[in-house]
Amino acid sequence: MHIQTPRLELREYTLDDIPPLHVLLSTPSVARYQTWEPRTLAQTEAVVQEIVENQDSMPRKHFELAVTHNGTFIGSVGAKVKNRQASLWYSFMPASQGKGFATEAVAAFILLLGDVTLEIECDPRNTGSWKLAERLGFTKVRFTEKDFECKGEWVDSLVYQKYAFQDGLQTIMEEADS
Ligand SMILES: CC(C)(COP(=O)(O)OP(=O)(O)OC[C@H]1O[C@@H](n2cnc3c(N)ncnc32)[C@H](O)[C@@H]1OP(=O)(O)O)[C@@H](O)C(=O)NCCC(=O)NCCS
Repeated sequence: MHIQTPRLELREYTLDDIPPLHVLLSTPSVARYQTWEPRTLAQTEAVVQEIVENQDSMPRKHFELAVTHNGTFIGSVGAKVKNRQASLWYSFMPASQGKGFATEAVAAFILLLGDVTLEIECDPRNTGSWKLAERLGFTKVRFTEKDFECKGEWVDSLVYQKYAFQDGLQTIMEEADS
């Protein structure tokens, strides 16, 4: 899998990505609203090993692509697909946030996932995450107070959804109407 966007390249991980991914996954602000603590190097190695193993599974249910800008690793986008429902995740290096890179990468990535309902779950305090969902046209479908216990606290949860081909279908329907 390989995607080129105006500014970014999304490509399959290799074991060479362990050092840059580890910088990302060991950053406290990146882990803050995720279910995991900043990763140790051994944990990042296991993560990349699993990502690489999943690349060959058929049918493929786990997708995770490295995002690069001018050849430099800046973030990661992923999805788990089950029963035509895709749960999405994304993380970007702090220095590469606030530039629209995450929106550009996720928008391209979801087109690869086919005929699925896309879902983003996030902590409501994770403003960057829910703003990204709204920027991509996702609809807020659920808010659950104190949804689950995570890293020693009860956290609220926001769920956003979007049908993958929503925009495309709208365009087709608008063209058919005119
Ligand atoms: C969630 C996350 C990926 C969002 O990153 P982000 O940089 O805010 O999102 P984008 O790349 O789409 O950038 C949007 C921002 O860039 C600005 N921007 C600047 N240039 C832009 C451009 N050319 N195009 C679009 N937006 C641009 C936008 O105005 C927006 O700013 P705002 O949030 O102040 O309104 C990031 O916060 C992150 O990695 N967090 C840690 C991991 C995490 O929590 N993941 C989600 C778990 S649920």
